[in-house]
Amino acid sequence: MNTIECINTRRSVRKFTEQEVTKETIEKIVAAAAMAPSWKNTQITRYTVIFDKELKDKIATEATIPFNANTIQSATALVAVNVVKKRCGYERDGSFSTTKEDSWQMFDAGVASQTFCLAAHEYGVSSVIMGILDYEKVAEMIELPEEREMVALIAIGYPAESPEAPKRKSVEDLLTIL
Ligand SMILES: Cc1cc2nc3c(=O)[nH]c(=O)nc-3n(C[C@H](O)[C@H](O)[C@H](O)COP(=O)(O)O)c2cc1C
Repeated sequence: MNTIECINTRRSVRKFTEQEVTKETIEKIVAAAAMAPSWKNTQITRYTVIFDKELKDKIATEATIPFNANTIQSATALVAVNVVKKRCGYERDGSFSTTKEDSWQMFDAGVASQTFCLAAHEYGVSSVIMGILDYEKVAEMIELPEEREMVALIAIGYPAESPEAPKRKSVEDLLTIL
C-alpha cells in the first residue's frame, strides 16, 4: 500500500472480529509510530496497551460513554495514549517556549496517534481514536505514573465492518493560497 492509499483507506472502525492482535504486531506498529515528528524530538507519547479483558471492560463501562463502551468491548485490545508531562512546549529552564504553552503536547500526541493508526492500517489492524472519556479515572485504572497524562484511547482489532468514509470538506473549503 502506498502512503496516499493508506491515508485514504484508513477508517475509524468500531466493530472488530475476535482475532487477537499479537504483541509482535503491536511492537511493529509502535516502532513506526516512534518515527512521528515531535517537538524538539522530545518523543513524549506513550502507548499503554490493555489486553486484560476485565480491565478493558471496566474502562468501557466506568470511564466512558455507552457508544464508546460498545467499541471498546468489541476491540481485542485498547491503547491508552498518554504523554510525559512538562517537556513538549517547554524550554530547559521550565518556561514555555511559545504562547501556546503546553498545548504542543496534545499536538504531538495527535501526530503520533495518527501515525500509529496509519501504521496499524498497513498491518491490517483497524482502529478508532476516542476522546470522550474520564481521563482521571482511566489514569487511575491503568496506574499511570504521576509524571504522565492521559490523552486518548485507541481501540484496535481486525475489522468486522467496512464503513464508508464520512463526507469530507472540499479542497476549496480547506485551502487558502496567498
Ligand atoms: C481527537 C479525536 C477524538 C475522537 N473521539 C471519538 C470518540 O470518542 N468516539 C468515536 O467513536 N470516534 C471518535 N473519533 C473518530 C471520529 O469520529 C472519526 O475520525 C471521524 O468521524 C472521521 O471518520 P474516519 O476516521 O473514518 O475518517 C475521534 C477522532 C479524533 C481525531
